[in-house]
Amino acid sequence: MRRPEGKEMSKLKVLVVGSGGREHALALRLLESESVAEVVGCPGNAGMASGLGVPDGKSLRVQTGQPEDVAVAEKVDLVVIGPEVPLVDGLADRFQKLNLPCFGPSAAAAQLEGSKAFMKEFCRRHGIATAREVIVRSPEALEEALAQFSSPPVVKADGLCAGKGVVVAETMEEARSAAAAMLSGDSFGSAGTTLVLEERLLGEEASVHALCDGERAIILPVAQDHKRIFEGDRGPNTGGMGTYAPAPVVDAALLETIDRDVIQKVVQGMKADGVPLVGTLFVGFMISPAGEAKVLEFNIRFGDPETQVLTMITEGDWGKALLAAAQGRLEKGDLRVSEEHAMCVVLAAENYPAAPAKGDKISGLEEVAALEGVRVFHAGTAAKENDLVTSGGRVLGVTAKGPSLAAARDLAYEACSKICFRGMQYRKDIGYRAL
Ligand SMILES: Nc1ncnc2c1ncn2[C@@H]1O[C@H](COP(=O)(O)OP(=O)(O)O)[C@@H](O)[C@H]1O
Ligand SMILES: [Mg+2]
Repeated sequence: MRRPEGKEMSKLKVLVVGSGGREHALALRLLESESVAEVVGCPGNAGMASGLGVPDGKSLRVQTGQPEDVAVAEKVDLVVIGPEVPLVDGLADRFQKLNLPCFGPSAAAAQLEGSKAFMKEFCRRHGIATAREVIVRSPEALEEALAQFSSPPVVKADGLCAGKGVVVAETMEEARSAAAAMLSGDSFGSAGTTLVLEERLLGEEASVHALCDGERAIILPVAQDHKRIFEGDRGPNTGGMGTYAPAPVVDAALLETIDRDVIQKVVQGMKADGVPLVGTLFVGFMISPAGEAKVLEFNIRFGDPETQVLTMITEGDWGKALLAAAQGRLEKGDLRVSEEHAMCVVLAAENYPAAPAKGDKISGLEEVAALEGVRVFHAGTAAKENDLVTSGGRVLGVTAKGPSLAAARDLAYEACSKICFRGMQYRKDIGYRAL
């Protein structure tokens, strides 16, 4: 431990690794925490660099460079890693070697997300409910594997594919050709040469996040994402067009079952397997019409845009909680779920997700900054001379909280209506399942 605890504990300086809306939300939420004085984003984004929304007396800056070098040069007390790719590549292990508290799992534990075959085998070993699967490790094994399904299976590339590695096939032929293209390496290179064929589940999706310290876990409100670009869940998949929490599809009784039968089992199972999970466990579920939850996937980092809503409706000191998790001393009550509701609406660029337009001037953010209960988190933005312009597919995450989901929605859309850039598109139906 680098600093003494207790009343005299000097305030924390935190490095947040990543550049999306998730990292912007984490940075601002950390700065709202009593324990945190300074956040450095690496590389961060234009929203973080703008300083908008930073509480008085606190500091938010961005730095480019290797995260390890920045952490050492800045003498940070805690590192929080946002995205999955550096985690799977071992970034948290490198901070471990530097003796720097890091909220984020080792590369070995990150396999829960980094390999879908690993995840399925882990679920079998520890009795965690998930869809029936067959793992395929060579093109020659494909036909025999397909023959074990009477209806078209979902085809999943084993490795990280930035959310594009899953094909929900409508026909056996579609499953066969998607699987063959993955196994040959044509679709995703080595990330696809092992794959999982999985029984297709029906129902409604929801996700649960938990903070883990290797031994204990604190669960956060249930969120529901909207992956498709168009209203009514039509059109191509995206990184996520909006989210809200809490999602009523998981009621208190089901959440208790999920906590006991999934979250705690994962944390205990990883510990028993010698790869304790430190960081976020973000579980995607399919909830059947009968109200049973089966695991679709594990992620080992915060969701984007789930983080934008979860940070708005949790009480407590995020700096203390993430440091405690990194140091294996998390306590129930370090973070508490508030009574509020939150919604995030993603404003996307023209032609997202195919070929998003860039360089369009964004206006209206000052006006929105004056709205109580609203936060605008940046993702695909850049500063250009004195303007803020678009620079990626998902540009902004307009997030609002309120006493009810309807109130949060109305406020979020009121804020959206004040923001403008050429070609701006967003879904008007975020939260429709719950409203
Ligand atoms: N067994 C399944 N049954 C039905 N739909 C599935 C199944 N597995 C995945 N999906 C769908 O595919 C999406 C992506 O799958 P997921 O395993 O979450 O992979 P990733 O997020 O890594 O792309 C899910 O959100 C869900 O909509
Ligand atoms: Mg997923």
